Amino acid sequence: MNSAPHDENTTDAGEGWSEDMELAPVHPGDREPAEPDDEREGERLQKVLARAGVGSRRVCEDMIDAGRISVNGRTVTVQGMRVDPLRDKIAVDGARLELRDDRVTYALNKPTGVITAMSDDRNRPTIGDMVGDLAPGLVHVGRLDQDTEGLLLVTNDGELAHRLAHPSYEVRKTYLAQVSGSVPRDLAKRLRAGVELDDGPVRVDSFRVVDTHAGQSVVEVVLHEGRKHIVRRLLAHVGLPVSRLTRTAVGPVKLERMRVGSIRRLSRAEVGALQEQVGL
Ligand code: URA
Repeated sequence: MNSAPHDENTTDAGEGWSEDMELAPVHPGDREPAEPDDEREGERLQKVLARAGVGSRRVCEDMIDAGRISVNGRTVTVQGMRVDPLRDKIAVDGARLELRDDRVTYALNKPTGVITAMSDDRNRPTIGDMVGDLAPGLVHVGRLDQDTEGLLLVTNDGELAHRLAHPSYEVRKTYLAQVSGSVPRDLAKRLRAGVELDDGPVRVDSFRVVDTHAGQSVVEVVLHEGRKHIVRRLLAHVGLPVSRLTRTAVGPVKLERMRVGSIRRLSRAEVGALQEQVGL
């Protein structure tokens, strides 16, 4: 069946389906008892893909024919497969897509002065003020210091938030820091090897100088640590006090050209990529 050419007249379950067939009334008595391999539960894959904005149903069918779609890690090449968008892991060209409509994840470009909390009993500005009532149950993924700006994720997917923030999943965070002092040539090597701070060692995944001018430099630090003030403490420890700190990426999600104080909803592909990173 897998290798048979697509036949518009085929009427077997899962093949040669059309809108008409989908909508045709079925008398309950007409239903055949479900066979073990008859997956009537769920929704047709091409319909789920089309609803997720991958393309029209026709385009999605062509993508299935071309072997570009996988479900739970297996390439699907037959039309009409039924899937459960709440459970099945669907990928397009190997890139996972979040298909649940009840889960939302936003990226904020947090300004300095705003604290990473949903509310504050001292009435300071919070990211809760920024996301307002975009969705119920939003939580922030990790924290940025009050005087740090940049990318902060907010989601109503508790498990995703937990895993992204948990050090064991080793999600890389990228920071740009403006520092004073000159950057020693061997610093990248030293930081990659690890340095000892008061609360234990820290190692960066990468370090590079982006720009240097008039005794100030902008450096990029990538690390998968979540300890408090970690970037400021690390750079101060090597003689480079930080005057400005911006987070520019969390795993595959990038701040890019988001304006300070702006919010955007992540695409299904971005959420899928985050899920992949943390094994969801
Ligand atoms: N490291 C810091 O020093 N501050 C932050 O806000 C995030 C990482």
